[in-house]
Amino acid sequence: MTADGPQQAPAAGTFRDRLRGAFATALAAAHAEGVLPIAAGDLPGLVDQVRETADPKFGDYSATLAMGLAKKAGKKPRDVAVELARRLPAAPGFAATFTPPGDPVGPGFLNVRVRDDALAAAISAAFADERLGVPAVARAETIVVDFSSPNVAKPMHVGHIRSTVIGDALARILRFRGHRVVTDNHLGDWGTQFGMIIWGWKHCRDDAAFAADPTAELGRLYRLVRKVADAKPEDLAADPSAAALAARHPDAGREVLEETAKLHAGDAENRALWQRFMPACLADIERLYRRLDVSFDHWLGESFFQPFLADVVADLESRGLARESRGATGIFLDGDDKPPFLVRKADGAFLYATTDLATIRWRLEHWRPDRILYVVDHRQGQHFDQLFRTAARWGLPGLDGVALVHVAFGTVLGDDGKPFKTRSGDTVGLESLLDEGVERAGQLVAADEGLAAEERRNVAETVGIGAIKYADLCQNRTTDYVFSYDKMLELKGNTAAYMQYAVARVEGVLEKGGVDRDALRRSAPAITLADPRERALALALLRFGEVLEDVEADYRPNLLTAWLYDLAGRYSAFYDGLPILKAPEPERTSRLALADLTGRVLRRGLELLGIGTVRRM
Ligand code: ARG
Repeated sequence: MTADGPQQAPAAGTFRDRLRGAFATALAAAHAEGVLPIAAGDLPGLVDQVRETADPKFGDYSATLAMGLAKKAGKKPRDVAVELARRLPAAPGFAATFTPPGDPVGPGFLNVRVRDDALAAAISAAFADERLGVPAVARAETIVVDFSSPNVAKPMHVGHIRSTVIGDALARILRFRGHRVVTDNHLGDWGTQFGMIIWGWKHCRDDAAFAADPTAELGRLYRLVRKVADAKPEDLAADPSAAALAARHPDAGREVLEETAKLHAGDAENRALWQRFMPACLADIERLYRRLDVSFDHWLGESFFQPFLADVVADLESRGLARESRGATGIFLDGDDKPPFLVRKADGAFLYATTDLATIRWRLEHWRPDRILYVVDHRQGQHFDQLFRTAARWGLPGLDGVALVHVAFGTVLGDDGKPFKTRSGDTVGLESLLDEGVERAGQLVAADEGLAAEERRNVAETVGIGAIKYADLCQNRTTDYVFSYDKMLELKGNTAAYMQYAVARVEGVLEKGGVDRDALRRSAPAITLADPRERALALALLRFGEVLEDVEADYRPNLLTAWLYDLAGRYSAFYDGLPILKAPEPERTSRLALADLTGRVLRRGLELLGIGTVRRM
């Protein structure tokens, strides 16, 4: 059973889209002819069961939908599969044959193999395409990505890496897919940490130190005052200067809270201090973002929303949603006997929740998004659950149909399986984390004598930072992972270094052959896929768009890293097994074109993850 219809022009969309379209047509036809006695409402969504095969021996794609359908229709899976298979080849865009040819459907699986002519046409089109064969989404959405969002005035630490790196990758990917992406760094720039540094400033600042390095001094004050305010005996025992201060200020904990309250109430001195501290805090984190190559469209932190909070609470009250509870104000989402979602404390202070509600309202009004993604630690799951339910009840204009999504992630662990800490038990500062990664990468790179010192430093930076990012992105985001420099810098395996090396190797071939890549592209060479290794490489290259679609569906960048890794493996099989530069024409040019496209795809894939590449390493 082959699909030898008239030759079709390369249809738009990925192979998977085209196959799904064909299956949708076949399903509808079978249903209309009464062959599938199921409810019409059961048809949509079934085609999602057309996917790449796990085992290439069964072809390129396979559909498992006959199984479920057969059950619903009270038929044998094989019979349903035969009925579908019979109607498929006539469907527009069907560019495949069944495998194995003699027994197209087995017990009910529909295994298909992309027709070689269709594959060659698609790979040539991808080669000529700026977007490398990745179709843009049919319906572009406006998507707000709220990510990184650290609490400033305390040093960024290892806990911030995940939101920053995952959020940035998702924003890049969604943008490349054709969405309108609005990134927003929702800084925690109004919290109790300011009460601590203001108190510290008033009682124990070091002016010379502040003049020399403001953020270092603010960081010192933050750490010191936290100990004094918490007054935990074990902390004080380990830190004599904190102990001395605590002895002189037994009420420090309460005074720190008062400083925060004064700031929020508009006290002139505390506001002036806040304004003085903010630029230093921002300069500090901006330096880190530059190193990480992360940027934002907006930096609307918590302080920006302060003027709106009283009105938010008043509005919730006037609609009968929020009401008083032991002096505080909250929304009783789960009945009167369950704790409410608090929006105002008994002392009048507003909360994290209040700011987030004001932020949703502001974003709806100003950006009219279709989706808002919050890339935040899974420990805030309850907050977002309550926030989204409150927003839904609030009935804000423009909220209908808007998806609010908590893109949650797990914790970064140390070797001991506990949250990653330094030996002395402190959280690991992000800056020193990056420094160590770069230093260790430098030791790898130092082995290459051919590089000049300056280039070596750049390579070390790209490899070291890339390793840290990739190690995070290649994890299933919802699980915890163990942070290990040794593992992330391995040159073999699913690591950034391996991927960066793959790019350098692919491009090395073109360089060695003296190939002018622009000229090669302009010449629109015929790409032939006679060898199975060429075919396997081409098929993987053409899955780029499918993978990005899957990343978006579940906000999982690790699907992209896994596919890139697989692609690099297929390139190795191709490169190790077949002559390229020494091949006779026309194979030589065809293979160079495949190498060029692989290089561009790998590079773009890494770029979408926010990971840089190097020419040599
Ligand atoms: N600043 C918060 C924290 O460090 C994260 C903010 C996330 N975004 C939001 N809209 N709540 O925990």
